[in-house]
Order: sequence, then structure tokens, then C-alpha cells
Amino acid sequence: MKKKRAADGLLARTGGIWTREKLTYLEKYSSAFMKAMGPKRAQGRWERLVYIDLLAGPGLDIDAETNGEFNGSPLIALAVRPKFDHLYLADKDSKNISALKARIPAEDENRVTLMRGDCNVLVTEVLKQISTHTLGLAFVDPQGFEVHFDTLAKFAKRRIDLLYLFPSGIGVRRNWRQSIESPQSKFEKFWGGPDWRELPVVKQATGVTENLTSDKILNSFVVAFRKKLERAGFEVQDEAVPLFTNMNNAQMYHLLYFSHDRAGLKIWNGIKRIGPGGQRTLL
Ligand SMILES: C[S@@+](CC[C@H](N)C(=O)[O-])C[C@H]1O[C@@H](n2cnc3c(N)ncnc32)[C@H](O)[C@@H]1O
Repeated sequence: MKKKRAADGLLARTGGIWTREKLTYLEKYSSAFMKAMGPKRAQGRWERLVYIDLLAGPGLDIDAETNGEFNGSPLIALAVRPKFDHLYLADKDSKNISALKARIPAEDENRVTLMRGDCNVLVTEVLKQISTHTLGLAFVDPQGFEVHFDTLAKFAKRRIDLLYLFPSGIGVRRNWRQSIESPQSKFEKFWGGPDWRELPVVKQATGVTENLTSDKILNSFVVAFRKKLERAGFEVQDEAVPLFTNMNNAQMYHLLYFSHDRAGLKIWNGIKRIGPGGQRTLL
């Protein structure tokens, strides 16, 4: 993804309609999450309500077509009311961190922990800082295979709701076939092991079972990945996963939702019903 200077003179990411769509889901869910959980925090059910975004980007996005600027995920979460008690934000790119730091309003600085580093390492440190009476919302928004399955599995062990942009079109579709021939450690870490080789779609590629279409191939990966995270501890999941496509209708990614609480799933389903246009529900 290209980077540009925004009107404030700082670095921004370029995005498309699908970028705005995914961020609209985040904005709606994080607002509904805080509206539902804020009163429970006041009653003492939760000690703290936190937001975790370890692939946060520079804080601002620019529409590649219109040049319109819009807030990225960390600034969206900062603006949610009632407020998150704390936000853990990170990126591995120091330029993104500098831009994001400059965009965090002074009055919010004391409720933000900003880190530069690899999300797969930082996740352990962040989770150490969160008590068992804390409820979290994690937004995990990669460009490809940079997030290891083990990282998501760590979230599954805690009271955290997870929104994960599963890189189906932008990652799996382009890489799974060549990974059969030459195992890529990137793919294996993203998947969390070699078990993807047992999927019917993969066996089909080696001539063992029936023909499958491209959509079915990606769906099969999505369903299997969800099952793995269910085994890791995320027992509440969205089964009708939104799919995002680009302007040419090519699949980009699936937005997976995980929780430990059926009330969270109910909120998520409500968000999806009024979700932004352009996405299809596939599974
Ligand atoms: C798709 S962008 C996130 C965009 C952001 N959510 C937004 O709304 O603007 C992914 C970000 O992850 C960062 N990144 C890539 N690999 C990473 C890693 N292993 N750990 C932390 N950040 C990483 C990239 O520098 C990039 O800024």
C-alpha cells in the first residue's frame, strides 16, 4: 500500500472503498461495544475496557481515487464514546509511529501506550498489562501474512473480542499453491502449522479429490481457520463472514469476528445488518 503526505504534512496510508468499509465496521462495533459495556464498567463488572491495535498504521488514510482523508483505526478508537480506558497501539514502522504520535490529541496521551515493534512479540507484553477483570477489543488489520496464528490464539485465551482481517484474497489466494511445492515459513506461521495441507481444496490441487471453484477454495480456508481459533478458545464466532472486494470485484479479505460472549455476537450481527454497502456475505 502506498503512502502519501496528508494535509497536516504527516504520512498517511492510501486506501480504497474497501478500506473505508472495514473501518466503518470497526467504528460501529467499537461504539456499540462501549455503549453496552460502559455501564457494566460503572457497575464494577469490568475494571477496565481497552482497545488493542498492534498494526495501527499512521492514523490517517487517503482515498486513492478522491484524495479524501479519513481517520485510520487508532484515531477512530480514540474518538469512541464512552471512552476506552486505555489504548495499546503499535506498528513495526517507525515512520508510522512518529506520524501517529503527532496525531494523538494531547488530552488523550495518558490513555495511550504507543509502541514500535512486531505485533507477534508485543502481544505478550500487552496482555501482561491487562488484568483478568479487563475486557478488550482487538483490531488486527494486516496487509498479508504478518500476523502469526499464535498471536491470535493468545487473544483467544483472554476476555477479548477480536476483529481480524483474514487475508484471503490478498494473501491466501496468491500463495497457497506455491506453498505446497515450497513450504513458506511465512504461510505456516500465519496458519499456525502445516495442517492446511489436509484441506480438501489442497488435496484437490494434488489430484486427490473433486474440483472446487476459487470462491470455495477461499471459503474452505476461512472455515478451517475459524475452527482453529475455536479450538484455541474463541467459542463465539460469526458464521456469516463479510467479504470485501476491490473496485474490480476481486476478493480482498474476510472480516472475521470472535468473542467469548454471545451478547457481543448479537451486537456484531446488528452492525452487519446496517453495514456499509459493497460487501457480500459469503459463508
Ligand atoms: C493495513 S495497515 C493498518 C492500517 C490501519 N488499521 C488503518 O486503519 O489505517 C497494516 C500496518 O501493519 C504494519 N505492520 C506490518 N507488519 C507488522 C508487524 N509484524 N507488527 C506490527 N505492525 C506491522 C504496517 O507497517 C502497516 O502500517
